[in-house]
Amino acid sequence: MANTILVGAQWGDEGKGKIIDVLTEEADVIVRSQGGNNAGHTVFVGKQKYVLHLVPSGILHRGKRCVIGNGVVVDPISLVEEIEGLRKLGVKARGRLFLSETAHLVLPYHRELDAQREVLKGRQKIGTTKRGIGPAYGDKAARVGLRVIDLVQPQRFEDKLRQRIKENNGVLKAFGAKPLSFARVHAAYRAAGDYLKPFVSNTVTLLHQACLRGESILFEGAQGTFLDIDHGTYPYVTSSNTTAGGACTGSGVPPHRIDRVVGVMKAYTTRVGEGPLPTENAEIADMLHAMGREFGATTGRPRRCGWFDSVATRHAAMVNGIDDLAVTNIDGLDALETIKVCIGYRLGGKRYDYFPSDLEALSGCVPIYAEFPGWRTPTSTIKSWKKLPAACRAYLKALEDLTGARLAIASVGPARDQTMFL
Ligand code: GDP
Ligand code: IMO
Ligand code: MG
Repeated sequence: MANTILVGAQWGDEGKGKIIDVLTEEADVIVRSQGGNNAGHTVFVGKQKYVLHLVPSGILHRGKRCVIGNGVVVDPISLVEEIEGLRKLGVKARGRLFLSETAHLVLPYHRELDAQREVLKGRQKIGTTKRGIGPAYGDKAARVGLRVIDLVQPQRFEDKLRQRIKENNGVLKAFGAKPLSFARVHAAYRAAGDYLKPFVSNTVTLLHQACLRGESILFEGAQGTFLDIDHGTYPYVTSSNTTAGGACTGSGVPPHRIDRVVGVMKAYTTRVGEGPLPTENAEIADMLHAMGREFGATTGRPRRCGWFDSVATRHAAMVNGIDDLAVTNIDGLDALETIKVCIGYRLGGKRYDYFPSDLEALSGCVPIYAEFPGWRTPTSTIKSWKKLPAACRAYLKALEDLTGARLAIASVGPARDQTMFL
């Protein structure tokens, strides 16, 4: 397989984990390059459900190597728990999971500050996952972050942590929050450091050598295009570059090594957390929630739902350079008589065919919809494109045309065998 970056083309939770799992078959190395344990990627292997947060979903395929790249922010305690959880389910990570020594750490003061800032924001809160992601990337940019390479050097870690806890306790006090105990944090993170030491490596060199051997690399994007710190609905975004460019900076693999970008999108739209969602619609949300669908994989929060927004996905195709599209959760629309697709926005007499940068403008935009007849047939047992109802194929072809990238994969259920290639 060509070196492939897979990104979310909407607001996260598009089904990236499932599609990564399917594509892993043909890859040698699967790489996470941004985000942290704010991600929740669901994969079903048979009846067994796995939710991956930091470990690349490729780990579920025996023999594949997985990398947590330099651009990821790693909560060591959470990573140890995840590796142990996988081990208990018979998935061995040791020897095939490689953790970048230059990835930054998420520490307890990051989580605490994340929560405190959300409280302070009140009604303007972002609705973060409270995993400390924003403060950890903030420290990275401010050049006061601790990295994996520090975690595995006991004296250095102790000195740096002591200093950072002292400073952050001052900040926490100003918030009226409880200060952290250095001794307690130090003991827990040292233990995690000892556990993780065998996984730590120079992943830039590792990936370079994989490229030289002609192996194929699959980049597992986290979050989605509209949660990107630069291209998303700022400030209602996460703190990393979730778009395709982030895969290179977050792994050290240069851009000329990338052959293909796959964009994953649902056949409708969802978002978890605050911020604009132009096509949000209570009717479709109620229908999906009643089916037991669209509850967050990381926080369990009900996801906000809406119609497919082609203004947004067209923008995603542009900023990511999407070649191929994977459309998931097609079966979620099986019961509908009529399906709407947003084809433009209207704001004060002006029509927008592109995604406005100004949040205030975006919040005022009223979607212009095209209507498509539903297929009213269960699709989850259908195995080939040709057997999908004609109305379903027409709907998916319209999404392809409106988004402007090739429809390559159609998914009608969470399992591996509920996937069609076009
Ligand atoms: P990710 O963060 O992009 O990996 O997506 P999540 O795992 O957070 O959310 C996607 C949800 O949709 C998960 O529960 C998947 O098991 C499920 N899923 C993925 N593709 C399909 C599909 O085609 N049909 C159905 N019914 N569920 C799907
Ligand atoms: P995956 O990889 C959906 C959202 C949060 C919040 C905003 C900022 O599973 O698609 P953060 O904790 O990152 O500071 O929160 O981003 N968010 C996600 N939404 N899927 C995700 O990951 C997300 N990761 C963060 O809900 O709105
Ligand atoms: Mg998710």
